[in-house]
Amino acid sequence: MSELTETEKEKAKKYYPLPALAEKARIQNMDAYFEKWKYSVENFEEFWAEEAKMIDWFTPYQKVWQPPQGEQDEFVGKWFVGGKLNVTYNCLDRWIEKGYGDETALIWMGEDDSVKKFTYKSLTDEVNKAANALKSLGVKKGDRVCLWLPMIENLAIVMLACARIGAIHSIVFGGFSAESVKDRIDDSECTILVVADEVRRAGKNRPMKDNLKGIIDTCDSIEHVAVIKLTGGDVYEYEKDVDFLALMEEQSTTCESEPMDAEDPLFILYTSGTTGKPKGVVHTTAGYLVFGVSTNYYVWDYSCLLDLKGDTPANRDVWYCTADIGWITGHTQIIYSPMALGAVTIMYEGVPTWPHGGRFWEICEKFGVTHFYTAPTAIRALMKLGDENVTKWNLEKLKMIGTVGEVCNWPEWKWYWDVVGKGSSGEKPIGRPIVDSYWQTETGSYMMVNLGAVTPMKPGSCTFPYLGINPVLLDEAGSKVETPNTQAYFAYDKPWPGLMRTVWGDHERFVNTYLAQFPGHYFTGDYAQIDDEGYYFILGRSDDVIKVSGHRLGSAEVEAAINSHPKVAESAVIPYPHPVKGSTIFAYITLMNDEDASDEMKKVIQKHVRSVAGPAVYPEIIMFATAVPKTRSGKIMRRILKAVAEQKDIGNTMTLANPEVVEGLITRRQMMGEIQF
Ligand code: PRX
Repeated sequence: MSELTETEKEKAKKYYPLPALAEKARIQNMDAYFEKWKYSVENFEEFWAEEAKMIDWFTPYQKVWQPPQGEQDEFVGKWFVGGKLNVTYNCLDRWIEKGYGDETALIWMGEDDSVKKFTYKSLTDEVNKAANALKSLGVKKGDRVCLWLPMIENLAIVMLACARIGAIHSIVFGGFSAESVKDRIDDSECTILVVADEVRRAGKNRPMKDNLKGIIDTCDSIEHVAVIKLTGGDVYEYEKDVDFLALMEEQSTTCESEPMDAEDPLFILYTSGTTGKPKGVVHTTAGYLVFGVSTNYYVWDYSCLLDLKGDTPANRDVWYCTADIGWITGHTQIIYSPMALGAVTIMYEGVPTWPHGGRFWEICEKFGVTHFYTAPTAIRALMKLGDENVTKWNLEKLKMIGTVGEVCNWPEWKWYWDVVGKGSSGEKPIGRPIVDSYWQTETGSYMMVNLGAVTPMKPGSCTFPYLGINPVLLDEAGSKVETPNTQAYFAYDKPWPGLMRTVWGDHERFVNTYLAQFPGHYFTGDYAQIDDEGYYFILGRSDDVIKVSGHRLGSAEVEAAINSHPKVAESAVIPYPHPVKGSTIFAYITLMNDEDASDEMKKVIQKHVRSVAGPAVYPEIIMFATAVPKTRSGKIMRRILKAVAEQKDIGNTMTLANPEVVEGLITRRQMMGEIQF
């Protein structure tokens, strides 16, 4: 066997959390974790009943879990049957009732350095005003409300207001286009759209509401457009507009929280799949909340009002998740779970690199952040800017750091460990733990994750399952793969309370996407493998989902946006390795007339896609092609397109209907030369 290089040796090592963290931890060592995990999967109803005690119920549930009884609740069943609760009661009122009304609940910081600290009382007042404002616009329990907003405090307030009155929010990421907002509004028939006049981004005001011109008029279900005047910019007005902040000011600060059934939907969040149409992932009230609270409680182990761990309420730990609320990470890890635990949570309006590259760490110093959670793509972007952006800030309070969204690969993992984690090297490196959390929009919260205080880490591994979760590796035929270091399909063989219940309006799609391929299992769509110590490594998507900067995009959606340009005949997109984004979009485009192929045309198409699908969807690399390789059934052979793009061996082309196109693609790719970012 060849000798391992120094880097390979370092990569293969185990890394340990600072020992002091285990002393007061809720689970104090790995034996205790393995024991609790075994108990939790063997007695999962008892286990989840224990966890459900972290929540206050208006009416106790009668049954923890009711197994599937028909097609509508296939695999997942029903959770906490008969229970009544309200998520905002758990996030706000209960802490006021326990005497913590004047403690900090949420700290919001704007791009311009302005800070708004909300106590449980002041946040409740705002949420109630927003809830009453929504009611005055006719919003009732079960109605859908679409929020298309930047990371302003009112995003948190309005989402909580929806939950307070039992309206189902559907938040659309600010980086998506107005057309994507329309698709999502139409799909779930939202009656209200809440939107800001403009967005503040990197020191400039940029259009938001104006992008909806001509589009919002075609959304038949919309009754009111609730405008949040953020910049006061001069924007297009629409007859259904309501000045939402002015309306809020007219409202009372009292609004009882609506008792919701455990299984009532809390929100819809659209996510990309393998077809052109995004899926409206539906999460319920009780299961989602119990799962979110439980995962955060044990994984991060922070002091919070639910368990102060000897801290005073005023010097509780401080939690900062850098995600956008437009993604599931923001829903679960900025708002619902930390707030229901009574943690101090931070929400920041801006980007990590403006006005300077140390913005995250500045925020950590300023608010004494103890637990910091970000994405590998952000780590890669920051690592390029130099260590002094981190080291000049006082990060003494920091206890744990974490990542989510994609694999945290060795270079960024090591940088994070050394520079932010202040980790040591040597035989047994010790430092601030890096929590590598693997989960999905669909799963509600962490599925595979290290317990920050105790789990020895391996770079790039999300380590072991969360409590109550039983992962399985399967081959094509659905048989278990138990051999270490063997790539397999990654699934779970048991439901858990936080699993999505359905795809809004298309239950069949839910079943077909997640449950049909391996009956009796939820299939993640990812490949994974274990090593010889049972550590899990996620190997990426097995389907046509592309991750750009940790954001999930469906290739079919991107292709639909490209194909909507009148000069495009056909397109095929694949992920291409990118030093900061992890992957970027590489698009093969066949024009109606190959003679139009030019650099100018590439720019035209890029601009078109941005306007149709939004800035988050950007075909960064374009290669014109006379045709793309397809199977005889007409399916694009993305494996070959990936190999051509990365100039690797293309392997077998026997199954292609048109093998002759491959040579031409290889030549065109050679002519493009090295791709610079
Ligand atoms: O491929 C996996 C990857 O992100 C997918 C889920 O994307 P999304 O629903 O947008 O949720 C992201 C935030 C929860 C997964 O199917 N993924 C997520 N976390 C990790 C990851 N891949 C490797 N390691 C992770 N920690």
